[in-house]
Amino acid sequence: MSQLKQMSHNDNSAPSTPGKFKIEKSPYFNRTRWHSSLAKLTLWSFAFLAVILIFFLRSPSSSASIPTDPSRRSLRTYNWGGSAWEKRVRSSARVRSRNGMTVLVTGAAGFVGTHVASALKRRGDGVLGLDSFNDYYDPSLKRARQALLERTGVYIVEGDINDEALLRKLFEVVPFTHVMHLAAQAGVRYAMENPGSYVHSNIAGFVNLLEVCKSLNPQPAIVWASSSSVYGLNTKVPFSERDRTDQPASLYAATKKAGEEIAHTYNHIYGLSLTGLRFFTVYGPWGRPDMAYFFFTRDILKGKSIPVFEAANHGTVARDFTYIDDIVRGCLGALDTAEKSTGSGGKKKGPAQLRVFNLGNTSPVPVSELVSILERLLKVKAKRNIMRLPRNGDVQFTHANISYAQRELGYKPTTDLQTGLKKFVRWYLNYYSGGKKAVE
Ligand SMILES: NC(=O)c1ccc[n+]([C@@H]2O[C@H](COP(=O)([O-])OP(=O)(O)OC[C@H]3O[C@@H](n4cnc5c(N)ncnc54)[C@H](O)[C@@H]3O)[C@@H](O)[C@H]2O)c1
Repeated sequence: MSQLKQMSHNDNSAPSTPGKFKIEKSPYFNRTRWHSSLAKLTLWSFAFLAVILIFFLRSPSSSASIPTDPSRRSLRTYNWGGSAWEKRVRSSARVRSRNGMTVLVTGAAGFVGTHVASALKRRGDGVLGLDSFNDYYDPSLKRARQALLERTGVYIVEGDINDEALLRKLFEVVPFTHVMHLAAQAGVRYAMENPGSYVHSNIAGFVNLLEVCKSLNPQPAIVWASSSSVYGLNTKVPFSERDRTDQPASLYAATKKAGEEIAHTYNHIYGLSLTGLRFFTVYGPWGRPDMAYFFFTRDILKGKSIPVFEAANHGTVARDFTYIDDIVRGCLGALDTAEKSTGSGGKKKGPAQLRVFNLGNTSPVPVSELVSILERLLKVKAKRNIMRLPRNGDVQFTHANISYAQRELGYKPTTDLQTGLKKFVRWYLNYYSGGKKAVE
C-alpha cells in the first residue's frame, strides 16, 4: 500500500529523468530548470505543430479520403489540393482579355471539351478543365488532348463531377462566371453494357454540379451538352426544339432528356441560368474512337469489314454530321449570350434564362455516303457489311432545324462533310501513323 502511494506520488510530481531528484533539492535551481523545461516543451510543441501544418499544406487532399459516405464510394482516388495545385488552378483560369469570362469546362479531356477549352483560351477567357479521364475509350487519347491543352495554358484538374468537395474547392479558388458542362457518359450502345455509368455521370453528376452551383454567391451561368438523341423515335423532320422528346431509343437519350428536366427544375427553383445544347453527331480531329466515322477509318485502313446499317426495306440510315469547329462556335455563342443566374446562396431572386438549342448541320448524309467519302480520302476500298439497324439505341436518321440557334446565337455551320472529313483524316493519319499516308 505504501509502495503504491509512493509510486503515485512520484507519478504526479516527479519527472521521468532520475537526475531531477537531485536538483529539486535547491529551490533556485528547481525554478530555473522548470522554466527552461517549459520553454523547451513549448518550443518542441511549436516545432511539432509546424511540421504537422506543413505536412497538411503541402500534401494534396484526396477525394477518396471520405470512404464512409456511400454516395462517394464509386469515386476513384484523385489527388487535388495544396498551394501549388491552387496556384496552377488560378493561373489557368486567369482572364487575359477585357470583359473575358472565367469558365470551368467539365469533360475538358473529351473531344468537344478539348476544342471548346482551347477556343476559349485563345480568345483570352480564363479556362480551367475538369475530367475524370475514365477508360470508356482509350485514355491515352485523352492524355494527348490534355498535353495539347497544357501547351495553350489550360490545366485539367483530374476529378469526378460527383465529388462535391472538389467542386466547392474549385469555386472557392476561382469564382467562375460560367460553367461549360460537357462531362458525360456518351455513346448509345455502351448503355446496354454499363447502364450505371450513364446514371453516375449524366444524372447524379449533373445534379451534384447543379447543387454546388445553386448554393454559390454569385451563381455561375451554365451551358451544358444535351443531345439530338432526345428526339428518339420521332419521324417528323427536321427536328425542332418544340417537338416532343418523350420517346428515347436508348438509356443514353433518356439520361439526356432527364438532364433537360433537371435543368428546368434548378432554373425554376433556384434561378440558375441554364442553356442546353442538343449536338448532332459531332466529328473532326481529336474525335471519339467509338463513333462510326472514326472506327470506319481505322477498320478500312486495316482491311477489316465495317458494318453499314440500313433500315427496314433497304431504308437509308442518315446523320446530320456536324463539324467540330461549327459546334465550338455554337458553344461560344451560347456562353456569350447566357444571362446571369438570378439566385444566390440557394435562393432565387427572380426568373432566370432557360434555353435549349439544336446545334446541327441541317444536311443529313446517308452513312453509305460517309463510307464513300472515306474511301476516296483514304484511297482504300471499304469492305462493307450491310446489316439491319439493330434496336439497341441507334435511330434511323437525325436532321436539325437550327433556325432558333441561328437567331439567338448567330450559329451558322459552314463545313460540309467532305471538307470536315478531309481534316479528320489528315489528323488521323498524322496522329496514328506519323502522317505517312497522304490525303489528296
Ligand atoms: N460527340 C457527339 O457527337 C455528341 C453528340 C451529342 C451530345 N454529345 C455530348 O457532348 C458532350 C461531350 O461529348 P464528347 O463527344 O466530347 O465525349 P467524350 O467522351 O469525348 O468527352 C466526355 C468527357 O467527360 C469525361 N467524364 C465522363 N464522366 C465524367 C465524370 N463523372 N466526371 C468528370 N469527367 C467525366 C470523360 O472522361 C470524357 O473525357 C457529352 O455530354 C456528350 O453526351 C456529344
